[in-house]
Amino acid sequence: MKDVKLGVNLDHIATIREARKAEEPDPVQAALLAELGGADGITVHLRADRRHIKERDVELLRRTVKTMLNVEMGATEEMVEVALKTLPHQVTLVPERREEITTEGGLDVVLQGEFIKPLISKLLAAEIAVSIFVDPDPEQIRACAKLGIPAVEINTGRYAESEGGEKELFAIEKAARLASKLGLKVLAGHGLNYWNVKDIVAIEEIEELNIGHAIVSRAVFVGLKEAVAQMKALLRR
Ligand code: PXP
Repeated sequence: MKDVKLGVNLDHIATIREARKAEEPDPVQAALLAELGGADGITVHLRADRRHIKERDVELLRRTVKTMLNVEMGATEEMVEVALKTLPHQVTLVPERREEITTEGGLDVVLQGEFIKPLISKLLAAEIAVSIFVDPDPEQIRACAKLGIPAVEINTGRYAESEGGEKELFAIEKAARLASKLGLKVLAGHGLNYWNVKDIVAIEEIEELNIGHAIVSRAVFVGLKEAVAQMKALLRR
């Protein structure tokens, strides 16, 4: 079995910067250190309210990231226009509510499939890989497969909140297996940390994880390169 790849989410770096509306810390510098620590990709969430990551960050990261840049965004025309302008390697479509502190659940692809189809076509035509953040629900996975996208990111948030609950883990395992059977690349993320990641790594079908809060939190004490390296070590199989 191959090691699980690590996408490091750097939103919190921009959150610290925006706490002072200053220039530091700089997500570009953070991305470089994350890559030195072994990150396989850099992820940022460009929110509609631009509360942390700005369009300029995406532009600069696209030019400087050596691995791959994944940009999470709401499924809207406005966001797709930004993606077509900045051309990240991958876009992950996520649901977005202005009042939320962080993404609260997966996108409802069963309900919104028809609406998001033209947006996905535009992204794929520009050779941007598309992933959708979904809950570990077989109906959602099937709806994603029907859209002809290359990947899905399974929401591990409920598993993380349940402190490693078996039922939640089993749902992720089942969803990952189904997604892989339907030809989708399987990613996962949300709420993962140095303690709860082990059982997710054990799920063979999961190829890549997106982790932010835990890594940036540890980075405050040990530095970003070291925090990423410590997480990478846990993703070995
Ligand atoms: N995946 C998605 C789709 C997310 O929205 C987030 C949070 O921005 C993450 C992964 C990373 O979550 P966390 O910061 O809890 O590791």
